[in-house]
Amino acid sequence: MSEFESQALEKLNPHKLPWHVAIIMDGNGRWAMQRSLDRVEGHKAGAESVRVVVKACRELGIKILTLYAFSYENWQRPANEVRSLMNLLVHYLYREFRAIRDNGINVRTIGRSFDLPVRVQKALNRIITGTAHNKAMIMNVALSYGGRDEIVRTTRHLLKEAMEGRIKPEQIDEKLFARYLDTGDLEDPDLLIRTGAEFRISNFLLWQSAYTELYFTDVLWPDFRKEQLLSAILDYQRRERRFGMTSEQLSKIATIS
Ligand code: IPE
Ligand code: IPE
Ligand code: MG
Repeated sequence: MSEFESQALEKLNPHKLPWHVAIIMDGNGRWAMQRSLDRVEGHKAGAESVRVVVKACRELGIKILTLYAFSYENWQRPANEVRSLMNLLVHYLYREFRAIRDNGINVRTIGRSFDLPVRVQKALNRIITGTAHNKAMIMNVALSYGGRDEIVRTTRHLLKEAMEGRIKPEQIDEKLFARYLDTGDLEDPDLLIRTGAEFRISNFLLWQSAYTELYFTDVLWPDFRKEQLLSAILDYQRRERRFGMTSEQLSKIATIS
């Protein structure tokens, strides 16, 4: 363990951990370009960051980790890059299957997984069913995911339910709507990390991130490892989440509970 890591772990408040961490894993292409490598090499190095960060979150006691692996808009990339990304994903899922299963991690997906090539769907189904009973941490992978697409699909689903008489329009409130989203019963993310020096959401978890703490870093995803994760969580722990209230109200609530 590095000096930085042990110091960060000492500073970390175990009672104030984010329950749900979401990550926009960006910067693989630039990482590769900086080294005069093919973009695919950046994605390969990024897969190693995924392995490290999943393990670190599990060890820290994070309960939900949502990873933006492939956006709905990413289909517009050159066909050979899309193909490489799909191959890397299949490779990762088979290689990490046992480690993920044996560490109590439950894998799920959000997004248009029905758009994915059959070989990817097969690898996903294997890991989803093989880890369905795990309870220690949820690893939620966003694939062919777009926040607006998710909201539109949800609306369509709810409309169908109403038209077929299973729900009444008056029953639709924020809670019900959220339950119909791909994230279902999962709590909203507490902390959203974006690597790769871009300051945007890129259509990620639009509904769910209404009150999420945002953390942006210049670090490119292949360079994001345990140290960087700890820095993000420490930064999160220094913030006051007011949810529209005042500081004074929050301290009152804290003394009551
Ligand atoms: C993120 O890295 C990976 C995916 C979007 C699949 P990028 O490939 O977007 O890397 P940059 O932004 O071009 O550096
Ligand atoms: C966001 O990264 C999507 C993923 C990390 C999977 P992009 O690289 O696709 O985002 P933009 O295009 O820069 O907004
Ligand atoms: Mg990018």
